[in-house]
This record gives sequence, structure tokens and C-alpha cells, in this order.
Amino acid sequence: MARVTLRNIFKIYTDQQTKKEVKAVNNLNLEIRDGEFLVLVGPSGCGKTTALRMIAGLEEITSGEILIGDRVVNDVPPRDRNIAMVFQNYALYPHMSVYKNMSFGLELRMLPNLLQQLANPGETKRIKEEIDKRVRAAADTLSIAHLLDRKPKQLSGGQRQRVALGRAIVREPQVFLMDEPLSNLDAKLRVQTRAELIKLHRQLGVTTIYVTHDQVEAMTMGQRIAVMKDGVLQQCDTPLKLYHEPVNMFVAGFLGTPSMNFVHTATVVKNGAGPIIDTGAFKLHLSEEKANALREYVGREVVVGIRPQDIHDKNFAPSHLTGQEPIRMSVDVIEPMGAVSTIFLNAGQQSLVAEVDAETRAKEGAPLDVVIDPNAAHIFDKETEQTII
Ligand SMILES: Nc1ncnc2c1ncn2[C@@H]1O[C@H](COP(=O)(O)OP(=O)(O)OP(=O)(O)O)[C@@H](O)[C@H]1O
Ligand SMILES: [Mg+2]
Repeated sequence: MARVTLRNIFKIYTDQQTKKEVKAVNNLNLEIRDGEFLVLVGPSGCGKTTALRMIAGLEEITSGEILIGDRVVNDVPPRDRNIAMVFQNYALYPHMSVYKNMSFGLELRMLPNLLQQLANPGETKRIKEEIDKRVRAAADTLSIAHLLDRKPKQLSGGQRQRVALGRAIVREPQVFLMDEPLSNLDAKLRVQTRAELIKLHRQLGVTTIYVTHDQVEAMTMGQRIAVMKDGVLQQCDTPLKLYHEPVNMFVAGFLGTPSMNFVHTATVVKNGAGPIIDTGAFKLHLSEEKANALREYVGREVVVGIRPQDIHDKNFAPSHLTGQEPIRMSVDVIEPMGAVSTIFLNAGQQSLVAEVDAETRAKEGAPLDVVIDPNAAHIFDKETEQTII
């Protein structure tokens, strides 16, 4: 097991046609702790795979330093980094059995050449037993022990995925690098394999960097999540910290489903004790502490972020919000989800998504009184898009 440290990592490509520089990874600083499961998440093209491939040694670093444990590995070839990588498009050898698919890499790595094997049969036998032990242990862990004699084409997608994982596990690496390893699986199998991966991590405790563009996967799997955009790390923290205290509009909008509502027409206005927020469609009276943080914004426009879960049907609002004045909105569309209902609302020119109690009596085309938790609102600077409160 080992910690992985990225210091000022840049990867700059030159676009062949325009000759312009593309900063695929732009000054990435990150420390993945020993034994941690860290998820690297962000939209397509933000540099996740590039970052992972640089850690693996498959991609040259333009500048910066990568350490595995205390060792700078910039110039260490991939095979000597003690890393195992699982890709989205894992290729199993079709003509080899599951057992052989898992043992093959180890044999290449651990067994000496044939002449040396003949010269030293005792040592060869010992190594072969060690490989056999590892393959069987990994197969047990992944519940594929009964499939060891099959060929890949006789397996389901999920089983093949586990063989690919098994191949990585038997190497007993210091670090696992996984690049969207579940994206070829159907939705149900993804959820199941997701849980298995978490369990596996708990069991083996190997430092893992897991890349995905799926924010649900990130939230459910990561001990910490690093959010990237355009090659730049936006924020790295625990899932709940990112959810409740995003540093900017991008992180706020990226994590959480349905995603956060942004009201772009809000102004901070002076009001008696402290400033309030007027969106034109409704007003938000913030707590004293929050209002104080907005003093220097009086008279200026800000962006208000409200999570769908913080907009309640008045009749089902939590008790601490009973003093709030309800806001009348009109209901556009209702999507019952079972435990909750997603409602698309209009308040003047503003559209909002709310996730409300499924018992709601809201009707499409009819008005609905809602209550917004003002202190759950996030306020962003309109120019910098950074969080104010
Ligand atoms: N060999 C290359 N030459 C030029 N540009 C490249 C090269 N490889 C990647 N890029 C660019 O670098 C950026 C980051 O690519 P990367 O593959 O790391 O994205 P990603 O976050 O893994 O995206 P996805 O979620 O789609 O897999 C993209 O803009 C991509 O076009
Ligand atoms: Mg990628």
C-alpha cells in the first residue's frame, strides 16, 4: 500500500491542426492517502484519463512530480511502479481460460525463462504454487471460483468485468487505478458491482484511484472525491462536504440529483437588520450570520443556488420552516418517483425543480404553495462563480 502524491502536474498537448496548446491537466496538486479510495470525477474531456495514465506511467508528464510512497516515479517505467490498472475496455484473451487470463501476467512477471526453470525446478514449483494461490484467492474474493475453466465468451458481462478485476488483484499492487471500469455494464449490474468494489477495497485496503464521469458513482464510492473541470482541480473533499459546501457553481451543479437550481436574477437588497435576497419571483430572508456575509454585496447581483430537496410543498414542509412565508408557484410537470416526486415549477420567469413528498396534492397546471429553506440556499459571486456563502 502506498500514498500517491501529485505535485504541480501539467500535461500539455499541441493541437495538430491549430498548433494551439491544450492543457489536458493544468497544475494538478493532489495527495491520495495510503489505503484511500479516491474518486476522480468530471465531465468528458476534463483530463481524468490523462491524469490516471500519467500516474501509471503510460503518458509522459509535461512538468511536475509524481510520487508513489516516498519515491519520485517520473522516470520509473510502468512495470516497475507496482500499479495495476483496470480500464473501461478491458481486453481478456479470448482463447485463454479465466484461470489463465488471471495467471498469465503473473507468470510473465514472476517465472524466470525456460532454461532457468529447468535448471531450478524447486524454485519454479514454488513460484507456480504462489501464483496458483493468488489466482484462487482472488477468484474466491470475486465469487468467480466456479468459472476458472471457462473461456471469456462463456461469461456474462459482469463476470468478465470481475475477471479483469481479478487480473489486477493477483498482482497485489500498491495502487489500483481504475478508469470507468463499470461503464460497460447495465444499470443494475453497475450498482451491484459498485458495491462489490467497495467491499473489495475494504477487504484489501489498497490505495485506489477511481475515474468516472458519473456523479452518483462518485458520491456513493468515494471516501474523497476530486472534481475536475477543463484540466483544473476544482475541489477535493468528502462527498458530504462537497455536497453541502461546494466551493463554486461548477461543483455545486455537478454533484447532486436532480442538480441544483440556479437563479441568475437575484439581487442583494438592504432590509432592516440585514440584507435579504430578492430574485424578482421571491425573496429569501437569511439567518443573521449568512446575511452578514453578504453585506458588501448589497445592491449587487448574485447567483442563488437551491437544491431541489430544499424546496418543499408547504403542506409537507419540515417543522423548522413553518414560520417561512410560502411562495406561490405554478406546476408545470410532475414526475412521481415513488418515495418522492420531482416537480417542475415556474415562479414568474424562473423555472425551478423541486423534490417533494410523494403525498403532494400538486397538480399539473395548478398553483402550488412552496416553502424554500433560505439558509440552505447557496449564494455565488456572479462574476467569479465562487461561493460567497
Ligand atoms: N493525444 C492527444 N493529443 C491531443 N489532445 C489530447 C490527447 N489525448 C487527450 N487529449 C485531450 O486532452 C483532454 C483530456 O482528455 P482525457 O482523455 O484525459 O479526458 P477524460 O476526462 O478522461 O474524458 P472522458 O470522460 O471522455 O473519458 C481532452 O480535451 C482531449 O481532447
Ligand atoms: Mg477518460
